[in-house]
Amino acid sequence: MHPRSLPPGRPTQVLAAAFSRLGDALPEEGIGPDEALQRIDGLLTDYGVNLRDAFCAAHLQPPPLAVAVKADALASASNASLDTYDSGPATIAVERWVVTKLAELAGYADGDGVFTPGGTMSNLTALMLARDAAAARRGVNARLSGVHALPEPTVYCSELAHFSVQRACAALGLGENAVRPIEVDDDRRMRTDSLQRALNHAVTPVAVVATAGTTDFGSIDPLPAIADIAERHGAWLHVDAAYGFGALFSDRLSGLLDGLVRADSVTADLHKIGWQPASASVLLVRTAEAFSSLDRSVAYLNPEDDRIAGYDGLLGRTLQTTRRPDAVKVAASLLAYGRQGLGGLVDHCHALARHAAELIAGDPVFELIGEVVLTTVVFRYVATDPELVDEVNAELRRHLMRTGVALVGRTDVGKATCLKFTLLNPTTTFDDLVRLLGLVRHAGAVSEDMLRQEGLA
Ligand SMILES: Cc1ncc(COP(=O)(O)O)c(C=O)c1O
Repeated sequence: MHPRSLPPGRPTQVLAAAFSRLGDALPEEGIGPDEALQRIDGLLTDYGVNLRDAFCAAHLQPPPLAVAVKADALASASNASLDTYDSGPATIAVERWVVTKLAELAGYADGDGVFTPGGTMSNLTALMLARDAAAARRGVNARLSGVHALPEPTVYCSELAHFSVQRACAALGLGENAVRPIEVDDDRRMRTDSLQRALNHAVTPVAVVATAGTTDFGSIDPLPAIADIAERHGAWLHVDAAYGFGALFSDRLSGLLDGLVRADSVTADLHKIGWQPASASVLLVRTAEAFSSLDRSVAYLNPEDDRIAGYDGLLGRTLQTTRRPDAVKVAASLLAYGRQGLGGLVDHCHALARHAAELIAGDPVFELIGEVVLTTVVFRYVATDPELVDEVNAELRRHLMRTGVALVGRTDVGKATCLKFTLLNPTTTFDDLVRLLGLVRHAGAVSEDMLRQEGLA
């Protein structure tokens, strides 16, 4: 593995070099599996992102657990699916086990769920179930009559909710404008007084989407108060805990998700806090009836008499047909580490984020933006020239990517360009954080110099 976070170079150079490793043409004759694998391995090593590097701290993209990687290879080798009994009995049993354990962790007494190909898809599926439930309340079948069955359908989420909520509404025919963003308080949590006011005007409130772990700040909306409001207005409550669900593994942090059990559905991504190879997203629901509008009996898969005889699978829980058994790697990880083992990893990453925040707050060259909730830290490099701060922060991140020595995240807070550490590497140490901040400081100085020179030229 190259020793840096990213391969050095500009994107065009790196991509061209990686591309060329594969050769110019589709080979007429193959080079054989050993050489092919060697070539692919070399390509990924030389030109890939190195998530095991302690200075690789940009995204909700952890280094995966070795046990999960190995189990995932076993899952691939089996090529089993989950849609029908005969597509893979073992993988169906594994998914049922994992889903039950995660539903119990969420506090559901009769919970159910399904794996999907990512948090975006879990949110989409949840909003589809919410839309169909809203239609059913009006006595219509949205599956047959579409969204026309719903007058003025609306979905509420905080202004910091993930953009997949908007995309889901577009895909579901509700339109992105169906989403009513609700302002957040100083702690970046949805304001419940604003939510209440907005719902007072709702004609068909399809869903309230609370976020448990916003992508940048990890902030967690006030779930119990939001649950009260959603219930009063007959709206489906979906909690997007794509990032935050993993806090439930930790005795120290699990209280942050109090109230989660009142949700109708929950997105939980174990390829974020959970150290799984992507993807390992689970959509949990309070009861299996939530899936009723997805139910299907298909002649070539699960005809009714086969279903009655017990040969059904999990086709009726997702929008997919053939489905990768992502639960296999999760089952292996849960068995290998147990809740406490995973909780220890969560606690370490949380401690890293808190320590990084302390270092940043104590260094005048940086400005800390907001408190740490989970494992992210948002901050800025304070350039000497206040006019250049946004540009310097953006450029220093690109500088780090070009040199490959570190990878940090970027986001906007209001109009300000900020940097972000997303700390999900359990082998990173406090000393690594000191060195990482040193790299950011150096990149900041170099970038400001460069921008000044450009300004003078
Ligand atoms: C809060 C939240 N929800 C949903 C998603 C989407 O997850 P995925 O990238 O697995 O589709 C993300 C991704 O970062 C997220 O942070």
